[in-house]
Parts: sequence; C-alpha cells; structure tokens
Amino acid sequence: MENGNAAVSMRNITKTFGQGVIANKDVNLDIRKGEILSLLGENGSGKTTLMNMLSGIYYPDSGEIFIDSKPVSIRSPKDAYDLGIGMVHQHFKLVDVLSAVQNIVLGLPGKLDLKGAREKIKEICDKYGFDVDPDKKIYNMSVSEKQTVEIVKVLYRGADILILDEPTAVLTPQETQKLFDVMRNMKKDGKALVIITHKLNEVQEISDKVAVLRQGEYIGTLITKDTNPQEMTDMMVGHKVELNIERPTPLEAPKRRIKVEGLNVINEEGIQKLKDVSFEIYSGEIFGIAGISGCGQKELLEAIAGLQKVESGSIKYIDDDGTEKELIGMDPLKIKELGVALSFVPEDRLGMGLVGNMDISDNMMLRSFRDGHGVFTDRKTPHKKAEGIVNVLHVDTPGIETPVRRLSGGNVQKVLVGREISQKPKVLMTAYVVRGLDINSSYTIYELINMEKVNGTAVIFVGEDLDVLLQISDKVMVLCDGQVNGILDGRKATKSEVGLRMTSLTKEDAD
Ligand SMILES: Nc1ncnc2c1ncn2[C@@H]1O[C@H](COP(=O)(O)OP(=O)(O)O)[C@@H](O)[C@H]1O
Ligand SMILES: [Mg+2]
Repeated sequence: MENGNAAVSMRNITKTFGQGVIANKDVNLDIRKGEILSLLGENGSGKTTLMNMLSGIYYPDSGEIFIDSKPVSIRSPKDAYDLGIGMVHQHFKLVDVLSAVQNIVLGLPGKLDLKGAREKIKEICDKYGFDVDPDKKIYNMSVSEKQTVEIVKVLYRGADILILDEPTAVLTPQETQKLFDVMRNMKKDGKALVIITHKLNEVQEISDKVAVLRQGEYIGTLITKDTNPQEMTDMMVGHKVELNIERPTPLEAPKRRIKVEGLNVINEEGIQKLKDVSFEIYSGEIFGIAGISGCGQKELLEAIAGLQKVESGSIKYIDDDGTEKELIGMDPLKIKELGVALSFVPEDRLGMGLVGNMDISDNMMLRSFRDGHGVFTDRKTPHKKAEGIVNVLHVDTPGIETPVRRLSGGNVQKVLVGREISQKPKVLMTAYVVRGLDINSSYTIYELINMEKVNGTAVIFVGEDLDVLLQISDKVMVLCDGQVNGILDGRKATKSEVGLRMTSLTKEDAD
C-alpha cells in the first residue's frame, strides 16, 4: 500500500481483549493531511478500538504506527497529543462543574493563565468557525456545546490529526451542518480528519475517502465520490443487504387505539408546543410523525405517555372492547400498564435509562420490576429476555453477564430498544430508535417494528430520516410549529411534499 504523504499509517495492527475478543486484526489504515476519512463498520467492528490506539488509550498487541513516516509508540493520551493526535470520544470526558476554559486547560503543564487561554480559545474559534462561551459551565451546556468544547480542547493542544468518534449521533441535523462547516475549515487548513458515522448520507457529504472495517478486519478504502450506499453497506456487512423496508399491509379490521382531540401543550418556558392537535391511531398500523426538530413531536409523545403537562384537549386510549380511557391526568405508570410504551432515544445515549454497572440481564429485570405485575403478554424471565434480545439484535457481547458499560455504544442502544419492543405493548411509540445504530442493526429494528405492527400493535414512529419514515409508515402526520399540517397516505406521500409541509403551514389540509 502507498505510504507517500500519509500523516498516519497503521500497519498490521492487532488488538485483543481478554477471553479471545479480537477487536482489530491485522489492520492497515492511512490517514492523510487535508483529507477527511470516514471510518465505517457495524457496531462492534473495532472502529473505536482502532482509533483509541492512536489516541493512547490502548496499545496494540502487535503492528506498527507511523506518523509522518516515522515509527512511533503511543503509550498515553499525552504521547498522542505530543504527536499532534487528538480524539473526541463518544462519551465526553468533561468535568461538569468547571467552565469551558477550565476544562480546556485542565491537565496542561505550566502555570495556569486563564486570560491567555481565553484569547487562544477565541483565536481557534474565529479561525474555524466555532462558537464557545469560555466561561459557561459544562452542566449548563447542550450536548452540541459540550462537543464543541471537546473539539476546541483538542485543537488547543495543537492537534493536526483529529479523530471524531460518532460526533453526529448526538447532534440535530442543523448542528451536524455546523460541525461539517468546521470540519471543512480544518481540512482546508491542512489537518487530517477521521470521522466515524453510521449515516451514509453524512459519509457521502463530508468525506473524501471511506475505510471499511468488518469484524475487526480492514476490508478496504473507497473514494467516496466513486461509491454508493449499496456498495458501502455490502462491504461493511460482507454480503448483499436489502436496503428496502417492507411495508406490510395494515390489519383488515383495525381497532381504534388512540384518539387525540384538540390537544394544546405549553412548555415550561411558556411556549406553545402543540396547538389544537387532533388525530387517531389504529391497531396494526404505523403512524409516522414528520417534523423538524423541536416542532412538538417530543411533547406529543410525552403527553400521550403522561409525562407532559397538558393545557387542554383530550387523549383517549381505547380498549379491545371499545372502552375509552382518558390518559390526561393519569399516572404514567398506569398508562404504561395499559400497554402504552414509549421508547425515546435521547441525544445523549448513555442517559437512556440503562444502568451502566449492571449487566444486560439485570437491566431487563429492572424494567420488568418497574412495570409492575404482568400486564404484558411477554412473561419471559429477564434472563431469557436478555438472551432473546442479544440473539435477535446481534448484540455484540461476550455474554449477558457483561456490564452494559462495557458494551460498545450501539450495542447499549440495541439492548434498550429491544427492551421496549419486547414488552409487546398495545401502543408502541418510538422516537429516534436507530440513533447511532449501524445500518444492519437499523434495518433489524425496522423489521422488529414491522413485526409489532403485524401483531396488531399501534405504532407511532418518529425519526430523522424522511426516506425511512416514508417507507415504513402507513400514514404520515406532518407537524409544523406544533400544528398538524396534514395527515398523508404513506404510500403516496412524496419526500418533497412532506418536506414542504414540515417547514410552512398549508392553508387547507389536503385529503
Ligand atoms: N475494554 C474492552 N474490553 C473488552 N472488550 C472490548 C473493550 N472495548 C471494546 N471491546 C470489544 O471489542 C470489539 C470492538 O469494539 P469497538 O471498537 O467499540 O467497536 P465499534 O467502535 O466499531 O462499535 C467489540 O466486540 C467490543 O465488545
Ligand atoms: Mg465505537
């Protein structure tokens, strides 16, 4: 393989973790200056481990690393910084009670000069187009702001080689665009960048090349503009993958499950998040909700789950025998007992309600315990349930006794989503369930959701990917600024129509 002007060359890198886990096997990778490289691979394929050997977190069992063609030994994060390598990890390592500037200079040798540090931070921000308030405390920051602090911290230490591990998994599409602008500026400045992302449209948009890992092995590097999603996916998975989502026909005699009428929600800041929202959902259908970030989808799902204060209106749950029950004012646990489940994957995926130190099996137990006595048809023991989820979703773990904390990010999420779906609810509300998941796992989740639909569950589906939303949904309700801006037939609606309705209110609802 050419070595030429590579900023970093990894040669025949192998890394194992006890008990025969081969995280990386004989991997070769080149990272070049003035280039953005995407690192692509399924959850657990060894991307983070490989990059952690550049950032000094792990040391390879065997193989060599060259920086500017010179062999190096990276034994600590400090070694990495000294070589100009900086990594922004999936789970941020900032100290919450400290400010941005304090975090950025934390651990640096020499006398503390906060004034000088502020100036240097401002320079970095101006140069690349960041926006950081140096004196803001981390605990007051959004995920996106925290990420910016992490990146500035790395640049502050003089990094020329930047590694971003799934940075967009925690960002809204708008924030992602901002990050990409910054990355383009860094590339222009001659830096070498590596980005790990599962979103192929992002790979296509931001990277020059894409390197693929599969089960710890290096498969190859593609020129991004010469490849396509199908080729990348096939390479990543190792066989042909069907990138189509089925849309099973809805039940013949659907039952009305949820009836929302004239719903108004005003949030804590006094902003009206939902305005006169009305719709109905039936058993055996997938009801997609489209809308730009912050348009009220979160409040709507939380209102149905009993977690959001409602101003006026009604939300009725309808039993198999037709009895209507008002959900507004009902205890959230009671709503759950009726069979209304909410799986909302927040931007910060570890804050998702899994207990890191507990193993998968215990996490299932926790859930079953909270659910109280078996209203759900699934009465499997937590242990069995854990095994089931591990198998169906191919959770990459040495065993179900492994603490959740030790699983890779995507695998943690599969446990969580699997946990909700395995409850076999009457109404399943899912929001952003594939956030951070690799493509294969995402499609497995879509299949599971479809199976729930076929089994008669009324599914509410909220996601960021419009293509997916339109493929999986029977109906698509568009929310615009808290108002229903049309309920469309998922089989007929087009992306541009939905997109338009997301951004501007139409005068009359088209039927
Ligand atoms: N500290 C660790 N101890 C044991 N196994 C680990 C550790 N870190 C990662 N692994 C395992 O190594 C493999 C690769 O993980 P990782 O590099 O996190 O994958 P990716 O980032 O591609 O999702 C997985 O099987 C994972 O479970
Ligand atoms: Mg990873």
